[in-house]
Amino acid sequence: KRPAGAPDRELAKPVKKVGVIGAGLMASQFALLFARKLRVPVLITDLDQGRVDKGLDYIRGEIDTMEAKGRLSADDANQVRALVSGTTDKAAYADCDWVIEAVFEELGVKQQVFAEIEPIISETAILATNTSSLSVAEIGANLAHPERLVGFHFFNPVAVMPLIEVVKVPTTDDASLATAMAVAKKLGKSAVITADRPGFVVNRLLAKVMGEAARALDEGTPLPVVERALAPIGLPMGPFELIDLVGWKVAAHVQDTMVHAFPERFYASENLHRLAEVDAPLVKSKLGKVEDLSKAGRKAVRL
Ligand code: 3HC
Repeated sequence: KRPAGAPDRELAKPVKKVGVIGAGLMASQFALLFARKLRVPVLITDLDQGRVDKGLDYIRGEIDTMEAKGRLSADDANQVRALVSGTTDKAAYADCDWVIEAVFEELGVKQQVFAEIEPIISETAILATNTSSLSVAEIGANLAHPERLVGFHFFNPVAVMPLIEVVKVPTTDDASLATAMAVAKKLGKSAVITADRPGFVVNRLLAKVMGEAARALDEGTPLPVVERALAPIGLPMGPFELIDLVGWKVAAHVQDTMVHAFPERFYASENLHRLAEVDAPLVKSKLGKVEDLSKAGRKAVRL
């Protein structure tokens, strides 16, 4: 069945080479997923070779683990290894027909990335952004071909989370939207088409939960109490463990975007920002360890 708002799937363009811009936490995870599921060459790039190598090391480590656990056969593991490569030379992206960026969550940085890559790729290649809360239309505001622009928002951990938010902007044409839906399906994900609104759908809800958790902490509720409060209804992680997973800076950024867009509806926590500055793991892993705060984290929340 065709998802709500999805165009005719016949319009989807073939994707024979994927270009990922960024080699950080999200970019490396989905570069691997593209190689595994689409079985096409995937390029990653970043500001310098050190960052590219770090991304490649992560990807190779994950492939090794999947092979060791028998989730990829030796042949498949070798094939996937050979498909992913890294470069600092953007000219190598010329024949990519799907390019997705996951660089620093700042409008100017993302616009700059698109300005650099658009003249290199073909006029028909899709340009996607993994932004979690910036306006997709603004990121692509200076594109010569804004009809190829889509948001394609993954969730962390990429290998496990089943959803992708596909963001349609007014300029997105049916072929680009159909391609995004087809790519999501090949990646084994469910896709929902969302409008280009702050926080799309998921981060609107998450920012509410994280904001209220931060407010409870600010008002003096002990962190372990806040962290465990929702466990009995079956949430796999407490709010602070989840913030640890997505990154404090990302979480603070999402919060800022939502507070800026809807000042009466979202809560701005000074503590969240101080913790984002420290960027230290606050909660180690499981609910039982929430007291296990780093020194820097304790100082930042004045516990
Ligand atoms: N990479 C690959 N696989 C991973 C992984 C990772 N980083 N983390 C966990 N997994 C896999 C494990 O290998 C395991 O697979 P298996 O069952 O086949 O062996 C499976 O996930 C379950 O892992 P674990 O048994 O180790 O741990 P849990 O059962 O506690 O689950 C979790 C871990 C899947 C992360 C779960 O706690 C969870 O779903 N947490 C919520 C995550 C969430 O809400 N993410 C969305 C964040 S919002 C976001 O990203 C948007 C951004 O814009 C802010």
